[in-house]
Amino acid sequence: MRPSLYFDGPIGKLNWHVLRMLWPYLIEFKSRVALAMLCLVIAKLASVGLPFVLKALVDGLSDSSAKELISVPISLVIAYGCIRLLNTIISEVRDTLFGRVTERAIRRLGMAVFDHLHRLDMAFHLERRTGGLSRDIERGTSGMSFLMRFMVFNIVPTILEIVLVVGILFYNYGYAFAGVTLLSVIAYGVYSIIATEWRTGYVRDAAKADSVSSTRAIDSLLNYETVKYFNNEQYEAKQYDEALAQWEVAKRKNRLSLFALNAGQACIISVAMTLMLGMAAYDVVQGKMTIGDFVLINAFMMQLFIPLNFLGFVYREIRGAFANIERMFDLLDKVPSIQDSADACNQVLSQGRVSFEHVGFSYDSRTILADVSFSIEAGQKVAIVGDSGAGKSTLVKLLFRFYDVIDGRICIDGHDIRTLTQSALRQAIAIVPQDTVLFNDTLIENIRYGRPDATAEEIDAAIKMAHLSQFIDSLPEGGETKVGERGLKLSGGEKQRVAIARAILKKSPILVFDEATSSLDSHSEQAILTALKEVAKGHTSLVIAHRLSTVVDADRIIVLSKGRVVETGSHSELLAAKSFYANLWRVQQE
Ligand SMILES: Nc1ncnc2c1ncn2[C@@H]1O[C@H](COP(=O)(O)OP(=O)(O)OP(=O)(O)O)[C@@H](O)[C@H]1O
Ligand SMILES: [Mg+2]
Repeated sequence: MRPSLYFDGPIGKLNWHVLRMLWPYLIEFKSRVALAMLCLVIAKLASVGLPFVLKALVDGLSDSSAKELISVPISLVIAYGCIRLLNTIISEVRDTLFGRVTERAIRRLGMAVFDHLHRLDMAFHLERRTGGLSRDIERGTSGMSFLMRFMVFNIVPTILEIVLVVGILFYNYGYAFAGVTLLSVIAYGVYSIIATEWRTGYVRDAAKADSVSSTRAIDSLLNYETVKYFNNEQYEAKQYDEALAQWEVAKRKNRLSLFALNAGQACIISVAMTLMLGMAAYDVVQGKMTIGDFVLINAFMMQLFIPLNFLGFVYREIRGAFANIERMFDLLDKVPSIQDSADACNQVLSQGRVSFEHVGFSYDSRTILADVSFSIEAGQKVAIVGDSGAGKSTLVKLLFRFYDVIDGRICIDGHDIRTLTQSALRQAIAIVPQDTVLFNDTLIENIRYGRPDATAEEIDAAIKMAHLSQFIDSLPEGGETKVGERGLKLSGGEKQRVAIARAILKKSPILVFDEATSSLDSHSEQAILTALKEVAKGHTSLVIAHRLSTVVDADRIIVLSKGRVVETGSHSELLAAKSFYANLWRVQQE
């Protein structure tokens, strides 16, 4: 298990971190928080006043001479009822007022996490586990709102209440009562802290098991097609059940340790209550106290131990919340490996000159590209061909700066792409990727994604160019048809054409086609290639293709093999060279 960074004592590093995070949310609604605090003070004063009314009432009732003056107890009864009501209503008002503050905090925090996740690099997203991640975020944000409510409304006020009650007991009934109360409160507090610390590990294990089982479920559902193809439903169910079984064990330990904690707390409370009531009963028998005093002490003890018990609960929950928030904070603490440099230039790149200069790259120490150099003049069409796994798509990922090159550099319009903002860089390139994945939305919305502010006419034009009109017209719901999760309701070729329409819409100076027509039949392929030629006019284009017939017209063809450029030249030059490309061409012509 990972050594804990944060749990180094009741107030560890994370706790301050979290408290500092909470502060801006609290001061965002200053007057609301102040009003809620005012409600809190009124409610507390009312609740401290209650036992006194009760004492007066009991004394009034047990005093035989008061029987004729029935109005006294009745007005006290009414006062008692009113104070109770006031107490409850004011507390509700307080919660309602404060709700807005916590909701806003959840919104802001959710937004911050979402934003951060999108900022994180490719490597993180390839590693991430969607199901577990979403559970971590869910638990993290609800933990935060819990913390806010209870930090503000329970801990400080309860401590105040304890001081107040001990003071009143001391003032009215002397050392013994105040002493027993204070001692029991201390014993309760110390026991709660120790026991809760001991439990935290179990709470964290349960949270982790929860994420694991959730990851399994989501992953399995995302791949439901594969599950069906291989008839592996039972295997999946077994795997999920194993994850759930671990969760069950973790939860059981969590629950049993909670039982131990609660039982210990109850013991301390009962002993203190018994002692106090015994002392009070003795004093009543001795005539040093009235029945009303006895009732008052009982009421105070109840009043004290309910919030104290609550404090125990809150402390426990807060530790739990910290354990949950820990994972979310780990996430927020992750630094994206690709970041804009401080002086990054946000220039609009309009020409589209691309050059790769001695580029070398490896994914975790496995060399993929070595000394790759080529350049594309503005408006030129350059093709990259080579066997599967040669590193063609990797070149594109480097161009988009999903990863940074290890050697050499990549320039657009003469700027090293690391000196540009990611936004300026990515604005300049439109891509039809090798595998198109769509959002579970309508066709039109998926196309509009290329440029969200595009007009309907522009979208129509893009649809025509991508040869999608016929397909869309054949659909009963036309462009409003939902494409299903990840676009699974479309055929491979249809998805590819949506991707082409999107790329056309983006209107970037550089166009990249990574196997853009690989899923199309020869007829549509020809049609689209003609269209793409149209689109590519006045654009720089980088075309990756397996079928060499699609790139014969390129200004230059770069042959990549095992991460190295082995040949470059035009189609006819390369054929004349009678080497790598010529062989490939011959094989494909056959
Ligand atoms: N994220 C990654 N982590 C580790 N290795 C990777 C990663 N992405 C790709 N690779 C490896 O890098 C090599 C080059 O991959 P790339 O996708 O660039 O090939 P390609 O030339 O586009 O092949 P294809 O024609 O099949 O699409 C492959 O061997 C692949 O296994
Ligand atoms: Mg590829």
